Amino acid sequence: MRAQVSGQGSSREYHAVEEMTVAKARQVESAGRNVQVHGWVRTRRDSKGGFSFIELNDGSCHANLQIIANQALPNYEAEIKKLGPGASITAVGEVKVSPAKGQPTELHASGITVHGGADPETYPLQKKGHSYEFLRTIAHLRPRTNTFGAVARIRNRVSMSVHNFFQERGFLYLNAPIITSSDCEGAGELFRVTTVDLKEVPRKDGEVDFTRDFFGRPTYLTVSGQLQAEIFACALGKVYTFGPTFRAENSNTYRHLAEFWMIEPEVAFYDLDKNMQLAEDFIRRIVKDVLDHCGQEMAFIKERVDAHAIERLQTTLDKPFVRMPYTEAINLLQQSGASFDFAPEWGKDLQAEHERYLVEKHIGGPVIVHDYPRSIKPFYMRVNDDGRTVRAMDVLVPGVGELIGGSQREERLDVLAERMREQGLNPETYWWYLDLRRYGTVPHAGFGLGLERTLLFITGLGNIRDVIPFPRTPGNAEF
Ligand code: 4AD
Ligand code: MG
Repeated sequence: MRAQVSGQGSSREYHAVEEMTVAKARQVESAGRNVQVHGWVRTRRDSKGGFSFIELNDGSCHANLQIIANQALPNYEAEIKKLGPGASITAVGEVKVSPAKGQPTELHASGITVHGGADPETYPLQKKGHSYEFLRTIAHLRPRTNTFGAVARIRNRVSMSVHNFFQERGFLYLNAPIITSSDCEGAGELFRVTTVDLKEVPRKDGEVDFTRDFFGRPTYLTVSGQLQAEIFACALGKVYTFGPTFRAENSNTYRHLAEFWMIEPEVAFYDLDKNMQLAEDFIRRIVKDVLDHCGQEMAFIKERVDAHAIERLQTTLDKPFVRMPYTEAINLLQQSGASFDFAPEWGKDLQAEHERYLVEKHIGGPVIVHDYPRSIKPFYMRVNDDGRTVRAMDVLVPGVGELIGGSQREERLDVLAERMREQGLNPETYWWYLDLRRYGTVPHAGFGLGLERTLLFITGLGNIRDVIPFPRTPGNAEF
């Protein structure tokens, strides 16, 4: 970057001065260095002694750098004294050890260039105290707040952790398609993908003629990359996907998005027990990486968002996950004496309130519920010998409920085809999926972890809309 240094009165330019991030300038080792930093003003205040104290943030870390601007700077009255939250600047000066507490260093500015002011009359992010609801209406500015900066950095760390965990274990990263013609979960919550002119829909015998659509068949945004992951696992052993998934679920809850990110490992020769162990190790690894690398962020979260956040993560590391058959979970809920909006009943799916009772009230930590009734789970889950249940597993955690859904897959051709018919699916359209069972079938298993639900669990934020940069929910797709 080339910008004039105000206050030098010479032709010296910034590019001659070492550029430094706020994170680095905050380190004591940087004291004595002459540097330039760029960023956005969080706050500014005047001191009686003729100084301005500017808190500068550049996103490199959670904390700000304090910049001390002397009234002797030539643009002090005209520009610096007008700086408020949101303004963008470059400051040049010497890093010094700070006498103030809470900050190891400060920057004594020899020049400050103002790139852009932010009118305090209209800039929506004034000092603090905005509600999450309000911040959602300014999703283009909320990354500039402490909370959303912290969430963005934790999200980044979790994503890295996901890749590191699987790469270290020899898993292959697979990119599953976004556009598909199959409904993996069989729940019919699909967004259609089409180039058909909605004013002139092609028809044949009274029905929409999809042979004249772009792909020559009905297509949708994927709800899961699992079926494709199974294809690769049945050739290469261990794979995982990490991509966006879409569900046209019309539910406005704290834990549902129409577009979310899912990680789906799939492993050949794995049974349900190994799958549960993998899920447990995986969650632990993410939690440990966050605790090890996001100290500033988690300290802030603990102070401002959820006092139990760090403790909850620590418990997750220390205590083995409890494993409990669905049937036992239902009995336990029925005998709990707790009052639920929906009565727990064998054969019905667990509601969020049931899941949270189990993990928050009963166990006090993550629980893996397994072997659910066949009638409430998708066609691909392996049927147990009892004929009534399937080898399903859901990992439930405090604050969220279901974080992971997975299963051992049905590897027997005849049973699988029968399950498809049972759920109203045509086995012929899944011929390629059935081929995996026709040629060299193997036991295999996998699961899906919701990235945003993981962030809800880690941060204790109460709403999934606040842990994804740009939430898509019924009625909302701005930004
Ligand atoms: O339990 P689900 O539907 O499982 C599957 O999609 C399987 N195909 C996974 C597999 O076995 N490979 O979804 C998996 C996880 C859930 O546990 C939840 O964390 C998250 O994805 N999830 C959602 N997150 C946000 N908004 C939604 N609407 C979600 N639906 C599922
Ligand atoms: Mg599920």
